Amino acid sequence: MPMTVSTIAIDGPAASGKSTAAETLARRLGYLYFDTGVMYRAVTLAALRRLGGVESEEDVVQLASSVVIDVRPPSIDDGRAYDVVLDSDDVTWQIRAEDVNRSVSVVSAYPGVRESMTRQQRRIGERGHVVMVGRDIGTVVMPDAEAKFYIDASAEVRAQRRYDEMIARGDEVKYLDILISIINRDQIDSTREVAPLCMAEDAIHIMTDTMTREEVVDVMLTYITEKEA
Ligand code: CDP
Ligand code: CDP
Repeated sequence: MPMTVSTIAIDGPAASGKSTAAETLARRLGYLYFDTGVMYRAVTLAALRRLGGVESEEDVVQLASSVVIDVRPPSIDDGRAYDVVLDSDDVTWQIRAEDVNRSVSVVSAYPGVRESMTRQQRRIGERGHVVMVGRDIGTVVMPDAEAKFYIDASAEVRAQRRYDEMIARGDEVKYLDILISIINRDQIDSTREVAPLCMAEDAIHIMTDTMTREEVVDVMLTYITEKEA
């Protein structure tokens, strides 16, 4: 029987190409693109700025429940896909800095932080016509999603992609530092107790080491079209 694939979940490790693929897929389908990593990054930035660190679980959880994080259509044409606003501050690029990369997995492992974030993400997912990206979308946030993809690549390829992206943006970074930071983040994300990074049983695994951005999107679109036929 024909069906419409209205909820699409995309998960995978850091810098595997999830956001890039999801953004294109959402544009092609006319769906909302929602990158949940942005929310964990914004809480991390708020903790670094206002608490001076992320070590106090109680303080970070309290902060996560009180900050207002908004993701809006882009107001500036500087390569951004959206504006990220933390209370009234535009933090679109600040949430991508290396100090946020280093601390975000500690923050996202706090169960109280996940509770606040998951609640908001489900509210958006329930409306449908959405491509949602993260670590636990197909397993926890939207377990009933009609299409699930797990976008993967080796740590070396992922580090190279993130390195190229940061150098192009003018950041001063070293490849080895990025590789180590990605491996550390994978380790924390996949071993935490609540909603660890893992592939949903019914997800399509796409290994992208030798694939272009376009090929990844084509695989997803083909799967969705076949499912709808
Ligand atoms: O873009 P990148 O893969 O580097 O990271 P991201 O998707 O922006 O996510 C940043 C961090 O947020 C991840 O390393 C996870 O610790 C956390 N995260 C999560 O726990 N659950 C999600 N649904 C999304 C992100
Ligand atoms: O969202 P996630 O952290 O998984 O990755 P991303 O931000 O979408 O992609 C990381 C970088 O890899 C971006 O600069 C992409 O343009 C690039 N990329 C690539 O070079 N080849 C692919 N097949 C996918 C992504």
